[in-house]
Amino acid sequence: MKHILRSQQFSRAQLEELFAEANQLNKMFDDPALRVGLGQSLRGKVMFPIFWEPSTRTRMSFCAAAGHLGMSIYWTDAAGRYSSAAKGETLEDTARTLAALRPHVIVLRHPENGAAARAVRLIKQFGHEAAVINAGDGKGQHPTQALLDLYTIQRELGRLDNLSVTVGGDLLNGRTVHSLVYLLAKFKNIKFTFISPKNLRMKKGIKNYLQRHGIPFRETTNMYSALRSADVVYWTRIQKERGSENTTLDLTIGPRQMRWMKKKSCLLHPLPRVDEISTEVDKDPRAAYFRQIEYGLFVRMALLKQIAA
Ligand code: NCD
Repeated sequence: MKHILRSQQFSRAQLEELFAEANQLNKMFDDPALRVGLGQSLRGKVMFPIFWEPSTRTRMSFCAAAGHLGMSIYWTDAAGRYSSAAKGETLEDTARTLAALRPHVIVLRHPENGAAARAVRLIKQFGHEAAVINAGDGKGQHPTQALLDLYTIQRELGRLDNLSVTVGGDLLNGRTVHSLVYLLAKFKNIKFTFISPKNLRMKKGIKNYLQRHGIPFRETTNMYSALRSADVVYWTRIQKERGSENTTLDLTIGPRQMRWMKKKSCLLHPLPRVDEISTEVDKDPRAAYFRQIEYGLFVRMALLKQIAA
């Protein structure tokens, strides 16, 4: 495993190994005696987070993960405005430039589908060794978010098989839900319920993939039926910046909707939330979206150890 481009690339065995490593890193991190050594693990390795789109969690989570392992981090924010992209430089030339500076890892977020894959082709062509991590490519994928989402489910519910998973929000344009569905499809006895406004239904390609692999899913606009049988509820915002029109379907989860959910279940969200989960829900023990961020730190540390060591 070198470049991280899409969640289909992971085998179940690789996921299990990654999550075991994340558990181990979490333990070491919480033990003051062991934590010191962690900071030496990737000393001398260099990471470039290059983000063309806004980010709070993904960028800072990668920076924190790299920092805790002793990597050096050099970045450019708002790459579309502050890198030479603003002067008309192509993604290809930017990627080639970055790779020539010999980082070990490039973490790339870009508004175009397939941007990270294009960067990899160039890096290979010119014989550079940087590993590229897709941190979100437009309406495409966000594989490391899906890795931490799965790890969260494992930590919260203790299993990744036999799950009824409800995925809600902008399923057409949200890249996190695309990566999540592909990744969960690798586990046994997974049933999906998709709930979204009619114009923002799950991408056709993903539904075809589920059909081909015999994985059951249904689509609904009924909140009660979507929430009541779910072990995992994964909620997302409407991606207004990606052209999602205003919709009339109210997908807000508040205390009333939480009462419909099973006692033993969890509510995840990649964040940022806008108004689709009310803040009153935050204190519900099933609301796992802030714990999700902490779990994500250890998943990204594990990932960096695997690809940069
Ligand atoms: C998501 C993204 O950028 O795709 N955020 C994240 O990385 N946690 C979700 C979103 O923007 O809605």
